[in-house]
Amino acid sequence: MIQYMPMESKKALFFEVAAQEAETLREAIAADANLKGLQCEFLEQKLDASGLTLASQADIVSVFINSVLDKGSIDKLAKTRLIATRSTGFDHIDLEAAKSKPVSVANVPAYGSHTVAEFAFALILGLSRKVFEASYKVKSGQGFSAAGMMGFDLYGKTIGIVGTGRIGQNVAVIAKGFGMKVIAYDPYPNNEAAKNIGFDYVSLDDLLSRSDIVTLHAPYNPGTKHLINMENINRFKRGSLLVNTARGELCDNEALLTGLDKGILGGVGLDVVEGERKLKDGEKVSTFEKLRAHPHAFVTPHMAYFTAEAQKEIARVTVENISAFLRGEAKNVVS
Ligand code: NAI
Repeated sequence: MIQYMPMESKKALFFEVAAQEAETLREAIAADANLKGLQCEFLEQKLDASGLTLASQADIVSVFINSVLDKGSIDKLAKTRLIATRSTGFDHIDLEAAKSKPVSVANVPAYGSHTVAEFAFALILGLSRKVFEASYKVKSGQGFSAAGMMGFDLYGKTIGIVGTGRIGQNVAVIAKGFGMKVIAYDPYPNNEAAKNIGFDYVSLDDLLSRSDIVTLHAPYNPGTKHLINMENINRFKRGSLLVNTARGELCDNEALLTGLDKGILGGVGLDVVEGERKLKDGEKVSTFEKLRAHPHAFVTPHMAYFTAEAQKEIARVTVENISAFLRGEAKNVVS
């Protein structure tokens, strides 16, 4: 529900903001005349139980993906009318709980569609050309030799894209540039994109069994939890690669380990990993420890979105969302 809010004495609290991002956000806020007078505070901490008292006094709360806003937390946000997440995914926010209160949730729908697609290829090439192992070998003083580092060409190979939204489509375009055959699975196919870019939709099982590389670009929700699981891990083409830049919970860590150990998967590149919120809190996740130690698993710390351009765009759109909200308009409100 959108309500008009006069600017005087309105307060916005931004959580999970590192120093550099605070600067970018401040610039974007200063550039918007409508936001003159808005009190803004930037905190490095995520919004957890310890931040709720503070947050409950803010009209607008902005978070990133590590602040889990479940029903219990949202119920405590007494004054808050807008939760502005500086992310595309909003699986960390209980939308139903927000809907039951006068709290709107806005996201940044498209900032990372090129950024994340490019990073998916960083992982794909890192795996297919053994860049990670080779670089480690040289850096750790194990000699300047390409022995054991033979990779394979992307040209002519089949890539299977799971989720053909904004990011998935950009991955398809890049893959075409490499001369790859592109197949895709999406429960809501976009036939126009398929025709324009030149890819075919298939079932998930077909995609897993035909792809040399599988890359995940679906959102996380109850329906996509463990989309890659103990059962369908056996359907992957032997020796294929799996890349996940979407959300960790799309894959059952145990299934990935089984796939790697059985040689079904030749390698995995994970920017996101099941249980990563616990990892960020310094807790141990036993399946992650096994993945981390596996010679054919490569993990980056959820950074596919993290470029200067994307950060600027996140700030711009978040500030626009807040500004529109304060004018009584709905912008990028998710439901
Ligand atoms: P989008 O909403 O444009 O596209 C998602 C696509 O997935 C849609 O076409 C949808 O129909 C499809 N989908 C839904 N359920 C599916 C299922 N069960 N199987 C296959 N496809 C399914 O989202 P966008 O912008 O492409 O982003 C995708 C995801 O990437 C986000 O939800 C977010 O979780 C993740 N992401 C990760 C980032 C990172 O830094 N690693 C940064 C930005 C987004």
